[in-house]
Amino acid sequence: MAKGTILVVGSGGREHALAWSLARSPEAGQVFVAPGNAGTAVPPKVENVPLRADDLAGLRDFALARQVDITVVGPEAPLAAGIVDAFQSAGLRCFGPTQAAAQIESSKAFAKSLMVEAGVPTAHHVTFTDFAAARDYVHRQGGRVVVKASGLAAGKGVTVCSSVGEAEEALHAALVQRAFGEAGETVVIEERLAGPELSLLGFSDGRTLIPLLTARDHKAAYDGDQGPNTGGMGAVSPVPGVGDVERLADLALRPIIAALAQRGTPYIGVLYAGLMLTRDGPRVLEYNCRLGDPEAQAILPLLETDLLGLLDDCLAGTLDRVRLGWREDAAATVVLASGGYPGAYRTGFPIRGLEAAGALSDVLVFHAGTKRQGDGVVTAGGRVLNVTACGATLPNALARAYEGVGCISFEGMHYRRDIGHSVAHSTVSDFTA
Ligand SMILES: Nc1ncnc2c1ncn2[C@@H]1O[C@H](COP(=O)(O)OP(=O)(O)O)[C@@H](O)[C@H]1O
Ligand SMILES: [Mg+2]
Repeated sequence: MAKGTILVVGSGGREHALAWSLARSPEAGQVFVAPGNAGTAVPPKVENVPLRADDLAGLRDFALARQVDITVVGPEAPLAAGIVDAFQSAGLRCFGPTQAAAQIESSKAFAKSLMVEAGVPTAHHVTFTDFAAARDYVHRQGGRVVVKASGLAAGKGVTVCSSVGEAEEALHAALVQRAFGEAGETVVIEERLAGPELSLLGFSDGRTLIPLLTARDHKAAYDGDQGPNTGGMGAVSPVPGVGDVERLADLALRPIIAALAQRGTPYIGVLYAGLMLTRDGPRVLEYNCRLGDPEAQAILPLLETDLLGLLDDCLAGTLDRVRLGWREDAAATVVLASGGYPGAYRTGFPIRGLEAAGALSDVLVFHAGTKRQGDGVVTAGGRVLNVTACGATLPNALARAYEGVGCISFEGMHYRRDIGHSVAHSTVSDFTA
């Protein structure tokens, strides 16, 4: 049998990690990445295709023309737009949830009501579309609330408030000024919780869910969790001292898989729960309908099980016979960003030291906003590179990753120097499941 042709949709570090992992599979044939980045162009085995992740018809036609055996979707937007449904209608295998199931991420109001239905512990919430009603509610509640645009807002739709004024301003932005467009026409107002956060992800075939190693990402731009929120400045995996991952999956992931199966819209793909470990136990803050970026860059290098086989089992409904194998190591990934990111930034700066970093043992450099120019690679986005390393312990992995970072430079480059610090130096036992 011919080895399977694979298509990875997306262009970030997560998609580079997916393509890297899939290309290592003994069953992998050609791997295409659409549109990919400078790191995902490794001909002849891995090639970029100039199709955008939101060009659903173009991607479907490409998959048909090239007889793609399996498509893996990295980002949420094409999933929310129904790429899996479009591929299925064309008789193509596409890994990820259908549009109906992807609402778990594309509508926070949907996710909250499903959590309540399924008995998943989460912050108390009320949903509003009317500004006056929402304002009255926060006046009664006091200002310690979290205001969330219900729809996809690229990580910018959530305001954690400390005062009534702040909450009112957030509500005004979403419901009156329409700062998030349609995504903010409905808002969810939640009770504000406290505690460390944890990313828990699992593979689902619609019935069976297998959790991955836990991870922690770092959203703030600067050290000490200061500064504006970003897409993610680094991640580590696994997170020690958070209790049994199977128990967490029973609490946060499996009830959702069961509820969606019950509703007749089974969830196939990666389900990601963003948890807060409060003093009263874990609470789910939100779900994502795909691998996290940069969590995937830290988790996938530790996975010993063949990823392609795993995706096959999810699509075939045979996940119940799978047990995941993991390296007994820790992994860390540090994001190198453009000067100014997450605000305005310039691109096109030459990147030096990629080969030296990649030559270090147990160091992988996953590209994000990069492109080829002449013989070199230049910056082409806000998050530019993910320097990832594995090590016997988390401090080892971190030291390795920062050694890799030390090899690389480009004009304006900035990164956090404290990735994993809170994980490596915490004694979390107060917060276990
Ligand atoms: N109920 C809550 N209490 C306290 N902080 C919260 C709460 N909900 C969200 N947050 C904070 O806001 C961040 C973003 O919220 P989240 O629901 O994950 O939305 P998104 O990732 O879509 O922006 C979380 O990672 C967390 O730090
Ligand atoms: Mg989140």
